[in-house]
Order: sequence, then C-alpha cells, then structure tokens
Amino acid sequence: MEYIQVSAPATIGNIGPGFDVLGLAIRHWGDRLEARKTDQGVSIAAVNSTVGGSELSKDPDKNTAGIAAKQTLKLLGIDQGVELVLHKGLPMGSGLGSSAASAVAAAFAVNELYDRPLTKEELILPATLAEEKVSGGFFADNTAPALLGGATLTRSCMPLDVTRIGCIENLIVILVTPDIVVLTREARELLPKTVPMEDFIFNMANTSLITAAFSKNDYSLFARSLNDVVVEPVRSKLIAGFDEVKKNALKAGADGMAISGSGPTVFAITDTPKRARFIEDAMVRTFALHGIRSMSLITEVDPEGARVIETQ
Ligand code: HSE
Repeated sequence: MEYIQVSAPATIGNIGPGFDVLGLAIRHWGDRLEARKTDQGVSIAAVNSTVGGSELSKDPDKNTAGIAAKQTLKLLGIDQGVELVLHKGLPMGSGLGSSAASAVAAAFAVNELYDRPLTKEELILPATLAEEKVSGGFFADNTAPALLGGATLTRSCMPLDVTRIGCIENLIVILVTPDIVVLTREARELLPKTVPMEDFIFNMANTSLITAAFSKNDYSLFARSLNDVVVEPVRSKLIAGFDEVKKNALKAGADGMAISGSGPTVFAITDTPKRARFIEDAMVRTFALHGIRSMSLITEVDPEGARVIETQ
C-alpha cells in the first residue's frame, strides 16, 4: 500500500462531570486525512477546510497531524516518511476535539500505511503527545474515543491506561457550536485549584454512573448523571448565554445539557428523535438572541472511531 485515506471523528471530552477522564466519539463531524509513503520525514502538502481551519500551519512540527505522524514513525522504528493532506471538518477551538481528530487520523494512517504493527490502543500515546503540544495538557479524553469509538475512560495518563467503555444505542446528541473561540489552554487555566469535598463526591458519583451507563447501554442512567458542579460553573462564563441556552434546551425536552470538552460547543441529550429538532431549534435561537450565530448537528455515538476510507 502506497496511499491511504482515513477519517477520525469529533469527540465530546469530559461528557459532563468526567473532567479529563471520560470522552465520547460522535458521528457525522470529523477530519479526513490522506497519507502517502515517502522516502523520509513528515511533510504536510495541504490543509483544506470548509470550517475555518485552512490557516492551520503546514509545518509538521506545529500541526498535530504532523507531530502525531512523526511520533508514530518513531514508535514504529521506521526510517521512511509520509506526506499528508489534511481535510479539516472541525473548527479549531470548538471543544469538539479538532486537534485530536487530526492527530488521531495521522497516527492511524501512518500505522495502516506501514502494515499496522500497532493496535489502536497503542496509537493513543503518539496522538496524545501531539495533542499535548497544542493544548498544554496531557489528556486522552479526545484522542482515545476518536481512535476507539464509543465512550472511553482514562484511568491514568502516566503510564497511559485507557478503557473503552461502550455505547448507548438510543442516545441522540444535539451539538451546538456558537461562534465564539475558547482555547483549551485558556479554559484550563481558569480551573479551580481545590474542590470542596461535597463537590468532589458529587462529580465522582456522576462520573462513575456515566461509566456504568455506557457499559450497560442505559440511556436513562446517563440522563440522570449528566451533572457537573465543578468545571461547568467556571467554564460556562466563557460561553455567552449558556444558562439560558441550557434552560431552554431542558424546556424543549432535553434530558440534560453540558459543555463539550473545554467549549464553546454545548451538547444536549434526548432519546426521542421527534424532540431533537425542537431542542436544537431552542438552543440555536437562544444563542441568536444573544447575538451569537451557531452551527448545529443532531447526531449519535460513533461506535467505530478512526477508520479507513480508501487505499491504493
Ligand atoms: N478534558 C479537556 C478539557 C478536553 O476539558 O480541558 C479538551 O477538549
């Protein structure tokens, strides 16, 4: 094989209370990447985008795709190289794991091109090292679900220990991305340094129950557990209109709403297809009342994660 085209999905980091440990892959939005074998080194021939990512660097040391490709080649111990063409389907700074999707697509493509010596689980490390360069933190709650699909849980970063938890088949996710930029690095700097014991217990209980819900394919348990009293109260201040959007999403029938990753994307949940459009409409309109345009999507869990589209 000389050429491969792959895709990696958007992801919802944290899934509410599971800060830096829970992550979820979702369908329909994501990055695509073409990779071709070369004699040596990593180069990025083009970065194409319909969502405002074309200003992304083609310098392989500054783009997570390039960094992940280099890390993967190093891990494989291969003296050959790769040329990449990145098709961004995710805006940067949206809270949908955009930099992780590019990193995952590159790590996955390089491994496939060179006969797949590593498992998807083993590719989490090179992809997460790439993500670390741009986010300022080492966390796998975007890279792991983008690779493995479904929901994942990170027990430890050093050494990296990640478990795929599962899927909730009837979960419908309504994503709304307001036209605001929130940089993960900045959203992490805002976090409290200490947490009251009762808030710690509350978030721990809800995170554990979300894990159980994805293991048991139990929508109702998930809906009851989508609560975060530690990070959401701080980060929601970066998202104009957040409280009202949440209130109106719940009024329109959503069973919960939370920030996706570090924001500004928010996601609401339902298991009733008929309600999804009403919820989406209520959220988009509420942002519009605050003078903010937004992009929205009704979607579901992506159970597969990174995948091959074409080979030559
Ligand atoms: N867990 C990370 C954070 C995800 O919330 O900062 C970033 O998308």
